[in-house]
Amino acid sequence: MENYEFGEIEFQQTYNLRLKVLWPNNPEKVQLEEDALNTAFHFGLKNKINNEIIGVISLFLGEKSEDYVDCQFRKFAIDFNFQKLGFGKYMLGKISEFLINKFDCKIKLWCNARIEQEGFYNKSGFEEEWETKGIKFVKMKKLLNN
Ligand SMILES: CC(C)(COP(=O)(O)OP(=O)(O)OC[C@H]1O[C@@H](n2cnc3c(N)ncnc32)[C@H](O)[C@@H]1OP(=O)(O)O)[C@@H](O)C(=O)NCCC(=O)NCCS
Repeated sequence: MENYEFGEIEFQQTYNLRLKVLWPNNPEKVQLEEDALNTAFHFGLKNKINNEIIGVISLFLGEKSEDYVDCQFRKFAIDFNFQKLGFGKYMLGKISEFLINKFDCKIKLWCNARIEQEGFYNKSGFEEEWETKGIKFVKMKKLLNN
């Protein structure tokens, strides 16, 4: 990973990969109203040599209950040529680190995962909470600081 730099980016910088990788046929799904909220954090993985962003992920902080702070991630995409090389797992680790540094309470990190990616999330320690929207999405969660 030494040629790649993980860090916060502007939400507009996520749009290219969101469109290309996640929603090539649904451009209206690329931008979220919540993107600009101050409870949203956007991250990219940048190739240090050419500054190209090869992975994006966005975190949306939710309510803090007595038990944990709720944190959903959305619009997670690794560019096609870089998938299945460990970058996705690395980015999940980095957002977990970001949250653990930010909060000293328990954190519920979750997403509505595409069903075909369930195995990927399992490998990073997530478990199924429930299936939503028929069989297309599955809610995957992981407790941090547990
Ligand atoms: C899903 C995605 C973010 C995963 O990132 P990635 O960089 O391709 O995955 P990694 O290489 O880090 O995979 C980590 C491990 O999970 C495994 N894995 C990856 N995708 C998997 C899948 N769909 N099912 C089962 N295992 C999978 C890898 O083989 C690897 O296993 P290993 O640790 O034993 O070697 C990426 O492939 C992607 O952007 N896909 C298209 C868009 C998408 O579906 N986004 C997520 C929406 S929920």
